Amino acid sequence: MYYIKKEFEAALKDAKTHEDLKQIKASFIGKKGRVTELFKQMSYLEDEQKKEFGKNINQLKNYIENSIKRKLDEINETIKRESLDKESIDITLPARKSAFGSIHPITETIIEIEDIFKSMGFDVETGNEIEYDRYNFEMLNIPKEHPARDMQDTFYINDNVLLRTHTSPTQIRVMKEKKPPVMFISPGKVYRRDSDITHSPMFHQVEGLLVDRDVHFSDLKGVLSEFLRMYFGDVPVRFRPSYFPFTEPSAEVDIGCIICKGKGCRVCSHTGFLEVLGCGMVHPNVLRNVEYPKEYSGFAFGLGVERFAMLKHGIDNIKLFFENDIRFLKQFS
Ligand code: DAH
Repeated sequence: MYYIKKEFEAALKDAKTHEDLKQIKASFIGKKGRVTELFKQMSYLEDEQKKEFGKNINQLKNYIENSIKRKLDEINETIKRESLDKESIDITLPARKSAFGSIHPITETIIEIEDIFKSMGFDVETGNEIEYDRYNFEMLNIPKEHPARDMQDTFYINDNVLLRTHTSPTQIRVMKEKKPPVMFISPGKVYRRDSDITHSPMFHQVEGLLVDRDVHFSDLKGVLSEFLRMYFGDVPVRFRPSYFPFTEPSAEVDIGCIICKGKGCRVCSHTGFLEVLGCGMVHPNVLRNVEYPKEYSGFAFGLGVERFAMLKHGIDNIKLFFENDIRFLKQFS
């Protein structure tokens, strides 16, 4: 027994790895280990001797188990120390900078427009990008034969459902939901089968609607002139008669060209003016469609967000907004 102990101690002293320890454990106290074998020899002994012998083997076994445990801790400690020594960290190196994102120029433009209208008391509503044909056209007084309904312009999902071609159906959604008076704007994505340097199949509009008693064209003029002044600064504003099925009378609004300051250039087609939005007094048919009482009247308007952002920042290609080239986006951070 004494020799077994000495041999164990010698072996343990040389052990360096987990694998060495495993082997030592197996060869001394494993199933066929030398200490285990000793237990088997007990059957040859007298009862009196058995007791003493058994006690000694158990002591030896415990001693071996504990020594192996201690050695394991030692080895683990050494491994840890060695890896820490190897992985030296240079705390004098400058830290890596964390990059901050920025708000997309379209989102930023929408926020800016919202802030102006909110300051005048307008609410902000959301509509649906997937819309009923009925809300997108019919209830806005756009009859079945109207060219705007052409398959060439509209993405249809089925006969009755489409990707909205403008934010105007939100007028219907809100008025069906709320009693007058209503006063809101509604920004969002719209879809048309159209693509060139000023048109994208998906783009953004902001719709506006105000319905109350005694609303007149002068209210429309006042609100939109003030909005354009707050967004573009001190520029000439001009209202031009136009046509939309859902408004009567209708108008388009131009601002003095902010590129050439009205002198005439390529951007304003040498007219000195840029068209920036469509508007008008809500058509009586639309108010009737949502069952608003006769004494109510209102005005509505719609504008293209990309166009606003392009004019304000002097951007000449709409695709830049959707390619997400980091060099383009960085300029807005
Ligand atoms: N929905 C029109 C368009 O997409 C824009 C528009 C014009 C909206 C006049 C209006 C409006 O609410 O009154 O071209």
